[in-house]
Amino acid sequence: MSDEIKFSIDGVEIKAIPGQTILQAADAAGVYIPRLCAHRQLSPHGSCRVCTVKVNGRPQAACTQPAAPGIIVENNTDEMKAVRTSIVDMLFVEGNHFCMFCEKSGNCELQAMAYRLGIAAPQHEYLFPSRPLDASHPEVFIDRNRCILCGRCVRAAKELDNKNVFQFVGRGIHKHIAVNAEHGLSETDLAGVDRAVSACPVGAILRKRVGYSIPVGERLYDKQPIGSDIEADRSSAGK
Ligand code: FES
Repeated sequence: MSDEIKFSIDGVEIKAIPGQTILQAADAAGVYIPRLCAHRQLSPHGSCRVCTVKVNGRPQAACTQPAAPGIIVENNTDEMKAVRTSIVDMLFVEGNHFCMFCEKSGNCELQAMAYRLGIAAPQHEYLFPSRPLDASHPEVFIDRNRCILCGRCVRAAKELDNKNVFQFVGRGIHKHIAVNAEHGLSETDLAGVDRAVSACPVGAILRKRVGYSIPVGERLYDKQPIGSDIEADRSSAGK
């Protein structure tokens, strides 16, 4: 294909089609670049920076940076791993993440990313913020203590459910997810089956009354590290 783009990730040649981001091209080639706010079915947000790679020596977010001919991308290096470890570390301490009590344990992308990066205990001090819950909805609840501000719920509601349910409000340390209703989630048109609920990578938005239907120990990331699905694509294709 004449307009095919070729570039490299960690010395491996990657092919991309025009318009693809580095992350999309890497996924298609079976090369895993860690990410949290990115989701295959949603527009890129570029907020968590877990996907940080070096492009021609400069840090860039792989989920928003377009693939370009001849660029040299560094992904699976000690330096990038240290950057990602620090970011994930900070996500843990700025919220209240008690994995052992969380229904999402084993299916949580933040927890799985920490395991993949080898984080045993955060290096920063816990902030223990006080954040409100919203259990007003009959099918869904929000626990903002576990929110990592990835914005997947905001985008999934708009882009996949065609609803305007969530939005960010506040700035800096006060930034949080709000709902588009005066008295809480029950006044929105969110449904338990909406993609905005399942798009949450952590236990911040959960469906009620289905907890522990799959026992801890038998969940997705109990069985395989996060990113294994993409890396399996590569080995099954013999790349
Ligand atoms: Fe790229 Fe979050 S995955 S910034």
